[in-house]
Amino acid sequence: MDFNIKSGNPEKQRTACVIVGIFESRRLSTAAKAIDAISKKYLSNLIRRGDMDGNKGQYLLLHNVPGMIADRVLLIGCGKEREIDERNYRTIIANSIQALNNTGSLDGVNYLSELSIKGRDHHWKIRQAVQIAEHSLYQFDELKTKKKANRRPLRKITFTVPTRRELPQGEIAMQEGRAIANGIKFTRDLANRPSNVCTPTYLAQQATALGKKHRSLTIDTLEEADMKKLGMGSLLSVSQGSARPAKLITMEYKGSKKAQKPIVLVGKAVTFDTGGISLKPGAAMDEMKYDMCGGASVFGTISAVAELGLPINVVGVIPAVENMPSSTATNPGDIFTSMSGQTIEVLNTDAEGRLILCDAITYSERFNPEVVIDIATLTGAVVIALGKHATGLLSNHNPLARELLNAGDESGDRAWQLPLWDDYQQQLNSPFADMANIGGRDAGTITAACFLSRFAEKYHWAHLDIAGTAWISGNNKGATGRPVSLLMQYILNQAK
Ligand code: BES
Ligand code: MN
Ligand code: ZN
Repeated sequence: MDFNIKSGNPEKQRTACVIVGIFESRRLSTAAKAIDAISKKYLSNLIRRGDMDGNKGQYLLLHNVPGMIADRVLLIGCGKEREIDERNYRTIIANSIQALNNTGSLDGVNYLSELSIKGRDHHWKIRQAVQIAEHSLYQFDELKTKKKANRRPLRKITFTVPTRRELPQGEIAMQEGRAIANGIKFTRDLANRPSNVCTPTYLAQQATALGKKHRSLTIDTLEEADMKKLGMGSLLSVSQGSARPAKLITMEYKGSKKAQKPIVLVGKAVTFDTGGISLKPGAAMDEMKYDMCGGASVFGTISAVAELGLPINVVGVIPAVENMPSSTATNPGDIFTSMSGQTIEVLNTDAEGRLILCDAITYSERFNPEVVIDIATLTGAVVIALGKHATGLLSNHNPLARELLNAGDESGDRAWQLPLWDDYQQQLNSPFADMANIGGRDAGTITAACFLSRFAEKYHWAHLDIAGTAWISGNNKGATGRPVSLLMQYILNQAK
């Protein structure tokens, strides 16, 4: 989608469709008032007759409105003006884009980006609007032979700021929004691809392709033999049951001239998680193609950072494996030595995410990181604790946790912190090895993070458990692209 920023009056826009808001009950927004004035009360007459109340979700498409240059005017119900908060704003913008897309307009000028929200400036509103527009028009149909044809597809959306003075701020917001939206689309596409397409090798190829696109990126892929030499016994124990070889992908982005320590993002990429010998039940097992969403979010974030050319250093580390049961797979009780030298008793082969992450976290030491943030669809327990709305956050450094929580609030891609107290560590005790890979029924998300914390003692580290937020199930099944937006907000804040 093409985006654009403008200021100026709605009656002067030469476009297929001008979009303005109507508040509950039957009140005109500023842009709607301007149209009402030029059209000799055309809108207020309509509204008085009861064609539109301004309730949320309502819309009304008008043609040939007197005095307007635009072909159409689309009225969007915004609910009570006082109640427009961040969440309502997002819904209103998404509704307007959906409605616009159904009108047959090739382009539109959207005045809803001027709605006022307490504590949010034009930069925030424009960036969010661009992200939401791209997000709500997303489709994954590359594997359908008959695509849903839209005869007159929407090509360009213009958002508005009230005066010329806000234009520069709006332009920057639009560029950021576009890069983040592209990153999110990249993440969603990778995640939605099935496991027979999106294999560890495929992900490594995607990294190489991304490296060709941006000169600021250096790509490196380790093969199983390389990992063996490094002593990554934990990671390799997961892939040993699969015919598809594991890859450890690194993408280094250098945007800061100075020898600045990088932010290292480690993303779990299990391209399919059957559970291994501790086999998962059959119901909804197809969704375990999404067990690479952490890795996919690192791809999306790195690509957005490179597209914006941010003055900062970021490294993506993606351990990519497939977790299969086979005659060569790990048996429960098998013990492996991790790259850190610590030994692990694998009591459940379905707790595989932590087994690949721990070696990737140890490997990250070589980048001399400022912070390490891992992103993983790690536990079903986080969905029980937080549902599908919040990402679980655990960290060994509270200031880092705060920065990530704030980035979540600001971007609308929210996380919620759980405790990482030492009290939980003993659940990982093993009679035969340094630790077990599971900690029992209680506090499954916390004990998973406790496991990882034992490999992250050398630096500030945070863990994002996205098992509940990375995709949605049911009729609208699909990847969400979370938490690219959160990570980008965090990185943008650091780059300032
Ligand atoms: N990838 C799963 C976590 C998961 C499960 C994400 C369901 C989304 C939905 C992970 O590898 C896993 O299987 N975790 C186990 C851990 C358990 C064996 C300690 C789980 O959560 O059941
Ligand atoms: Mn598993
Ligand atoms: Zn998994």
